[in-house]
Amino acid sequence: MWLFYLCITVSLALQTSGTRYQPNWKSLDARPLPKWYDEAKVGIFVHWGVFSVPGFRSEWFWWDWQGENPPDQDCVDYMDENYPPGFSYPDFAPKFHAQFFDPDYWADIFEASGAKYVVLTSKHHEGFTTWPSSYSWNWNSVDIGPHRDLVGDLGKAIRNRSLHYGLYNSLYEWFNPLYLADKKNNFTTQHFVLKKLLPELTDLVLRYKPELIWSDGDWEAPDSYWNSTEFLAWLYNDSPVKDVVVTNDRWGAGCNCKHGGYYNCEDKYTPGELPKHKWEKCQSVDTQSWGYRRNIRLSELMDLPSIVQDLVKTVSMGGNYLLNVGPTSDGMIPAVFEERLRSLGGWLSVNGEAIYASKPWRVQTEKATVPVWYTSNPTGSSVYAVFLTKPESYTFQLTEPLTMETSTVVTLLGNPNPLRWAPLHPSGLIILLPELPFTPGQAWTLKLDWVL
Ligand SMILES: *[C@@H]1O[C@H](CO)[C@@H](O)[C@H](O)[C@H]1NC(C)=O
Ligand SMILES: *[C@@H]1O[C@H](CO)[C@@H](O)[C@H](O)[C@H]1NC(C)=O
Ligand SMILES: *[C@@H]1O[C@H](CO)[C@@H](O)[C@H](O)[C@H]1NC(C)=O
Repeated sequence: MWLFYLCITVSLALQTSGTRYQPNWKSLDARPLPKWYDEAKVGIFVHWGVFSVPGFRSEWFWWDWQGENPPDQDCVDYMDENYPPGFSYPDFAPKFHAQFFDPDYWADIFEASGAKYVVLTSKHHEGFTTWPSSYSWNWNSVDIGPHRDLVGDLGKAIRNRSLHYGLYNSLYEWFNPLYLADKKNNFTTQHFVLKKLLPELTDLVLRYKPELIWSDGDWEAPDSYWNSTEFLAWLYNDSPVKDVVVTNDRWGAGCNCKHGGYYNCEDKYTPGELPKHKWEKCQSVDTQSWGYRRNIRLSELMDLPSIVQDLVKTVSMGGNYLLNVGPTSDGMIPAVFEERLRSLGGWLSVNGEAIYASKPWRVQTEKATVPVWYTSNPTGSSVYAVFLTKPESYTFQLTEPLTMETSTVVTLLGNPNPLRWAPLHPSGLIILLPELPFTPGQAWTLKLDWVL
């Protein structure tokens, strides 16, 4: 008995002391990911900033025009042909009007998309903050341009709909003189990190209490330059979001796919087999850019079936799907993006049971009649087989599930009637499909209760 109490006391003590994280990767990487994130599965990414004003090439416009050596000729021509000589990138900021920005309308669209979280750029590589940062004098959305706290205003509307709110933050700033000085010193000095980055990022967390920090722009310098482990230890131990905040893996050269919270690895990462660590695929409806482009062509956009397919494959592989849209500088989400998001929500309203809070099944995909992608519910009592091609006949074969003669029930989501099926040997089953309902997502879900 005495030993029993000793064990309890010791384990309680360990638990309490174990909740303080040390500023090293071993300690930080051991933090369990807050539960809401894996359950959410679907998020919306929003790239909005001064780059939305030229609306040309991508959110990297400033770099392509004036950072790259040699510069991107299309960007140089675009400026020569449309702007007066001497026009500089900061001259775009007063033209960032956001006059139609209606945070409630944006939040309505995001909610209707079926997403459970939203991630907004609070500062991209251009350094412009979409909130009144006192460390970004005259280069923030309250001093210049919209004259409005975009991060704060969108946050209120997002949270009013009980969606989770995340903020994207670029560690580096292409042309910040402090950053350039550190870079010149081979990152042996930390003027930028200590005077700009850390105070600003800390203030961002204290003001807006983001539940997700999507870090980026880390790759030119090691995490020791960025003081990433010190920042994360504060975030996980002492910040107001310590119990709920989720982070990604871009915290210094070589960190991606290795350290941090969940893994983004590369942009648009698509693993070949089930990853061992929680991950997220970020993808943009406009395949050419994350930020708004004035010269978008329909053929360059993902159509709804490709979005649904990408989402299903990602979730089947244990990932979250963060789908990006680029609003215009006047504050509109282009109607074509709005249409994609609302239609995705339509598909999820029927098939979401296979997505939200699901777990990867023991098999991720197979091709019997047509390719299917599997997920399962958390207890494993239901398995979902999503198929992304309309089969040519009414008989549908799956070879992986092991059925149980008297208990297995097969239904098509959206259709209340159980379907007729017969077992195959040594495993699998053959199902008699009903007439498939029309769905613009062109994907249907079979729910298999009580299969192994
Ligand atoms: C959202 O805002 C409305 C109107 O102000 C309010 O009635 C409602 O309680 C809010 N909901 C949440 C979840 O905050
Ligand atoms: C930075 O590194 C380069 C190449 O290794 C070297 O030539 C240069 O002297 C270094 N500069 C400083 C300030 O240490
Ligand atoms: C940055 O990290 C160094 C150790 O690498 C530490 O001494 C310093 O206190 C940190 N500064 C901040 C502001 O976190």
